[in-house]
Amino acid sequence: MSHAASEQTRITVRPLGAALGAEVRGIDMRAPLDAAAFQAVHDAWMTHLVLVFPEQHITDAEHVAFTRNFGEPEIFHQDIIKSARVREIFRVSNVDEDGKLMARSNPTMQQISLAEFWHTDSSYRPNPCMGSLLHGIEVSRTGGETHFTNMYAVYEALPDTLRRQVEGRRAKHDFGHLHTLRDLRPLTEAERAAMPPVWQPMVRTHPVTGRKSLYISPIYNDAIEGMAPAEAKQLIADLAEFAGEPRFVYPHRWETDDVVMWDNRCTMHQVTPYDPMERRVMHRTTIVGEGPVMAA
Ligand code: SIN
Repeated sequence: MSHAASEQTRITVRPLGAALGAEVRGIDMRAPLDAAAFQAVHDAWMTHLVLVFPEQHITDAEHVAFTRNFGEPEIFHQDIIKSARVREIFRVSNVDEDGKLMARSNPTMQQISLAEFWHTDSSYRPNPCMGSLLHGIEVSRTGGETHFTNMYAVYEALPDTLRRQVEGRRAKHDFGHLHTLRDLRPLTEAERAAMPPVWQPMVRTHPVTGRKSLYISPIYNDAIEGMAPAEAKQLIADLAEFAGEPRFVYPHRWETDDVVMWDNRCTMHQVTPYDPMERRVMHRTTIVGEGPVMAA
């Protein structure tokens, strides 16, 4: 456990798993973050990649305000997920904003179910996001754990057969690929036009730590430069399977009012299936990235 002094309080950082993840205590997200506390949190974030802040009894507005310490919140481009009340909030919820459980066939439900596959957020943007903060408002007991994988460690451990196929290559990241995964309704023309596909390096350099990581987001990847479609699909599946090996993963079991903050530049995540009849309400903010992805 490490300690950092700040004018606010004493901050403690306790590692949670061998691969990544740490619990941070001594932060109250309702209060302004002073410079020393910001530095302590940021240092812990760069070291552990995923931070868990327990017992954060925050409103959406406080969630957004805390996020702004790290950067501008991203505004999601689809109304079916974005909160109508606080536009910076991305709702990962099977309950609508009037508190009613949604049917499985509801397009919002169908889309959020795709978070069961490994991904990193907003990789389909020319400037993908830096990180995300997810607040557990109503948490699941039938599943609904969020699993995170350390993509630095994955890159470092890649077998040569996989490494040779990703070095110097780019993968296509297309938001429009989502609906093909579970035969969902195709995106509308307007939705496709709002987010044209982009090509991203498959190995990136982190802008702060300078470390290299594998950069894929299997729910959005539908092509790889210089590869036939079937070969590309197989490579993405093999990489996702490798990245999901338990030695690289921290599984987070939620308690109410946990806030989990992760670095999308060097991790992927997925949620484990849960009973769709059990309420699960999670609100996310997403931090705009600092620029285009730097190829390694
Ligand atoms: C997400 O993919 O941003 C949400 C993960 C979750 O629902 O736990």
